[in-house]
Amino acid sequence: MTDRYAVIGNPIAHSKSPIIHAAFAAQTGEPIEYGRILGDLNDFAGDVRRFVAEGGRGLNVTVPFKTDAFELLDDLSEQARAAGAVNTLIVRDGGLLHGDNTDGVGLLRDLTENHGFALAGKRVLLLGAGGAARGLLRPLFDAGPAELLIANRTAEKAEALATQLATSAIASPETRADAQTDQQETAVSGCGLNALRDQRFDLIINATSSGLDDQVPAIPDHCLAAGGWVYDLLYANEPTPFCRWGQTHGAVRVLDGLGMLVEQAAESFWLWRGVRPQTAPVIDLLRRR
Ligand code: ATR
Repeated sequence: MTDRYAVIGNPIAHSKSPIIHAAFAAQTGEPIEYGRILGDLNDFAGDVRRFVAEGGRGLNVTVPFKTDAFELLDDLSEQARAAGAVNTLIVRDGGLLHGDNTDGVGLLRDLTENHGFALAGKRVLLLGAGGAARGLLRPLFDAGPAELLIANRTAEKAEALATQLATSAIASPETRADAQTDQQETAVSGCGLNALRDQRFDLIINATSSGLDDQVPAIPDHCLAAGGWVYDLLYANEPTPFCRWGQTHGAVRVLDGLGMLVEQAAESFWLWRGVRPQTAPVIDLLRRR
């Protein structure tokens, strides 16, 4: 008996999720098929209902439906609540729909396990304050950096996210890696891109959509510390504009979002099937395509 899964988005033709999940299925022997659905911009709920009625077991949700999914579902994981967005929908036995968000875990796994970056005690600059940035905040904070500064073109949005994060951290401190230790606290703040001046960061993460317009966020030339890394959530066959920025501004490591894409998919696969696929061969496969 083959279980059905799919990714839903609009547009969707470009999505690599079907290739990734087919590779996971082949590797693990899990009996699944995984398709793609071009979601109706005016009827996301109807599309989900139909998929479930036809026996679908789970969905990955992508642009622009992650917030719609969050609003549609009542049963949500902590990660989905913190992100205000759902990227993984699980159809439970009996038909209950559960929403989760694996984007943050995906970034953290790629950064820390695949590439060996230790976030504890580091100064981190997160660029952007949209849906993509919001999904990363709590997992980044929980990894215990010394500083987490959110900088956005529209300053108010970054300030609001920083306030939200600080409030949620006070309400539920227990998810932090250092919750049981006396490691230093994380300074969280938000500002406009134009307020960045002399600070230096060990890691700059680009969670803006600027790369889609072939642009980079307007940040000062010297905000990367010696030995600093850059991470662009965007990925492409060629280096992305922000990866090129990193290359020309002294980054010792320049990473794009392909690893995160595969890691968030692996986490979804795990939530659906209870089996953890190996990600390295699938990242390699996509790099070679
Ligand atoms: P996503 O879901 O990808 O985060 P979004 O919610 O539309 O998409 O957010 C896009 C983010 O990219 C925002 O932080 C946006 O900044 P504003 O809030 O000021 O609009 C940011 N962004 C888009 N184009 C940008 C550019 N050229 N330079 C800097 N930031 C940009």
